[in-house]
Amino acid sequence: MKLFIGIDLGTSSMKLLLMDENGAILNIVSRDYDLEFPRPGWSQQNPEDWKKALFDGMPELLDGFDAASVAGIGCGGQMHGLVVLDEQDNVIRPAILWNDGRTAEQVEYLNNVIGREKLSALTANIAFAGFTAPKILWMREQEPENFARIAKIMLPKDYINYLLTGVHACDYSDASGMLLLDVEHKCWSEEMLSICGVSRSQMPALFESYDCIGTVKPDIAAALGLPAGVKVAAGAGDNAAAAIGTGIVGEGGCNISLGTSGTVFISSRSFGVDPHNALHAFAHADGGWHLMGCMLSAASCNKWLMEDILRTDDYAAEQAAITDDRLGENHVCFLPYLMGERSPINDTNTRGTFIGMTMDTTRADLVQAVLEGVAFAIRDSVEVARSLGIAIPSSRICGGGAKSALWKKIMANVLGITLEIPASEQGPGMGGAMLAMVACGVYPTVEAACAQLVHVSSVVEPDAELTAKYEKRYAQFKKIYPACKELFAAMAKE
Ligand code: XUL
Repeated sequence: MKLFIGIDLGTSSMKLLLMDENGAILNIVSRDYDLEFPRPGWSQQNPEDWKKALFDGMPELLDGFDAASVAGIGCGGQMHGLVVLDEQDNVIRPAILWNDGRTAEQVEYLNNVIGREKLSALTANIAFAGFTAPKILWMREQEPENFARIAKIMLPKDYINYLLTGVHACDYSDASGMLLLDVEHKCWSEEMLSICGVSRSQMPALFESYDCIGTVKPDIAAALGLPAGVKVAAGAGDNAAAAIGTGIVGEGGCNISLGTSGTVFISSRSFGVDPHNALHAFAHADGGWHLMGCMLSAASCNKWLMEDILRTDDYAAEQAAITDDRLGENHVCFLPYLMGERSPINDTNTRGTFIGMTMDTTRADLVQAVLEGVAFAIRDSVEVARSLGIAIPSSRICGGGAKSALWKKIMANVLGITLEIPASEQGPGMGGAMLAMVACGVYPTVEAACAQLVHVSSVVEPDAELTAKYEKRYAQFKKIYPACKELFAAMAKE
């Protein structure tokens, strides 16, 4: 039986997943790496660390399995990160990541001088600090010597694919988040390339996510313990890959990912743009398109509170104190804007905030406020989708945060929807392996692979009484950011 490898190139770790062609997950290994915050709101990572994670993790992934049966590899990667290589293929500077907020000035220039309408007409999107184009402009202005050395521009997972195959490629779902792609027609926007001062020759060749871009180079295959001729799929941005892994393909389904970021992903067969550009309009990895809202700090807010502030890694013990009777009754509220925020408010200055504490506020109230604050911010994106007439009666859910039964219950009730829990929460890794199966011809289409391989194992239904309580809390939550916005802007200038 053929085997496939899915790579989830995440922000805090790389996960490698080994799957057989019937969808059985045989092994998962994970390698953590550092995230650098050189200044408040800045975020970068060394692509060499991703390479190390890949080479270090692969032997353990394959240990005890028939490596000779591996037929394909597919990667779902953190989106938008700017990876730049020189003529000799050296990484020029650390990758500037999707949650980096250093480009406020470049975003201002793109949205207000080039203009939102023009950007939206060219790319179906406006500029957000995390997108790749503003980073290129930042580099051109702030690091002209580095900028002059750029031979190749790529996204994080494309660096992995380049290491594997030597092919400089990108798929449409990930390329959508660069603000350089004409998303509707699936080609580079020459005008956007020229606005950013880059040429077509620096950009990767474009593919559908399920296309085969090449095979693993012989020396790399030998170093990784892989057989000759393993095919590499173009892969996808992690959210599109996660949607494949949870079976959200074709028309109208929704997937919520509770990872370092939090996303609401709405799949569509046809191209469409949010007229206010609050939701991103990107290509999907099934050949179609999607709308997406992305919050910058989701499960990472919980990780921050647990590990950096409360100094514990026993998440379950902390959550055990939050009994059912406390849900909807918390008077502490949390704004989850620890890295600023993208969807829908697009504000790099905004910050995390606890509000409403009294002398009887407990540790558990703060833990609960963080879980609820993230759910409220996810609801902000769901509300934008609803305002466009998109019905979201239910959603799949994946990502590290989805392991918590309590968080799923809060989420279902804050959103007032049914959550469908896939048998595996390994969204991007599973999606990557499935894209590799299509690239190898095991399944004719991504939709066929999903129909065969993705199963819902349980559902979480909202409770009418609790949903009503959360409705009131959400109304309060929505007032906090507008009340603090000017203050955050003033604080950012200090
Ligand atoms: C999506 C986004 C994040 C990253 C996280 O637009 O920026 O979800 O892809 O990995």
